[in-house]
Amino acid sequence: MDSQMDWHAARAALEWQLEMGVTEAISETPINRFEQVAPPPKAGVAPGVSAPAVPVQPVPEVDPVEEAEKAAASAQDLAGLKAAMQAYPHCELRKGARNLVFCDGVPGSRVMIIGEAPGREEDRVGKPFVGRAGQLLDRMLAAIDLGRDREGAGSVYITNVLPWRPPQNRDPKPVEMAMMMPFLLRHIALAKPELLVVMGNISCHALLGKRGITRLRGQWAKAAGLPVIPMFHPAYLLRNPAAKREAWADLLDLQARLRTTT
Ligand code: URA
Repeated sequence: MDSQMDWHAARAALEWQLEMGVTEAISETPINRFEQVAPPPKAGVAPGVSAPAVPVQPVPEVDPVEEAEKAAASAQDLAGLKAAMQAYPHCELRKGARNLVFCDGVPGSRVMIIGEAPGREEDRVGKPFVGRAGQLLDRMLAAIDLGRDREGAGSVYITNVLPWRPPQNRDPKPVEMAMMMPFLLRHIALAKPELLVVMGNISCHALLGKRGITRLRGQWAKAAGLPVIPMFHPAYLLRNPAAKREAWADLLDLQARLRTTT
C-alpha cells in the first residue's frame, strides 16, 4: 500500500474494495507465517541475555459510561459540551469519522429535533441532516412554518443521538449508545427546548427505551422531563413515500401543540 496514504484515503480505498465485492485480504507476495522470526533485541540488552523483569503497572479500569457522565456533567454550556465530547476517548466511532457532528439551528428553540447519527454528507460537512434526508426534513419543517435558519418562534435546534458516523452507516451498537446518552441528555438540558421530536427507531429507542416507530409515531410521550413526539425518519420517508401521509399528520399535531402552548 502507498505509505503516503492517510487514514481517510486508506479507508475510502477499503470501502471501494468492499463495494466491488472483495471478501479476502491477501497480499501479492505470500508470507510464511510458520517461519519463526526472532523479536528484535531490546535496546541496551545483548542478544541471548534476557532483560531484567520490569514490574507491570496495572492499567486502571474505567467505566466509559461513568466517564461520559462525569464529562457531560462538567459542561456548563453548549461549547463546553462539544469540547467535552471532542475530548472523550472511549467511543470507537470517533476513529472512523471526519467530523464530530454536534448541532445545527438555534439553541434555545422551542423544538429540538433528535436524529440518529450522521451519514456520509453530515460527516463531511460537520452538520446534522444536510444530505437528502436533511433536505426533506427542511421541507417538512417549512410546511409548518419552522426551520433551522429561522429566528424566533419558527426556529428549531437539531442534533443526533450519535455525533460520529458509524462505518457503512450501520446501526449503532448498544455500548456506543450507552456511552453517548449522558452527552445527549446534557445537550437537551443545555439547549433548553420545550419539546422534543425524535426521528426514527434509533432515537426513539435511545430516549423512550422502545422500538417500533410504526406503532409509536404520533403518540406523545415523555423523556428527559419533556414532551416527546416520535416521527418517521425522513430517510424512511424517502424510501416509503406512502408514509408521508402519517408524517404530515404528526407535523400538524406538532404545530397544534406549539400553538396551544404559546
Ligand atoms: N440521519 C440522521 O439521523 N441524522 C443525520 O444527521 C443525517 C441523517
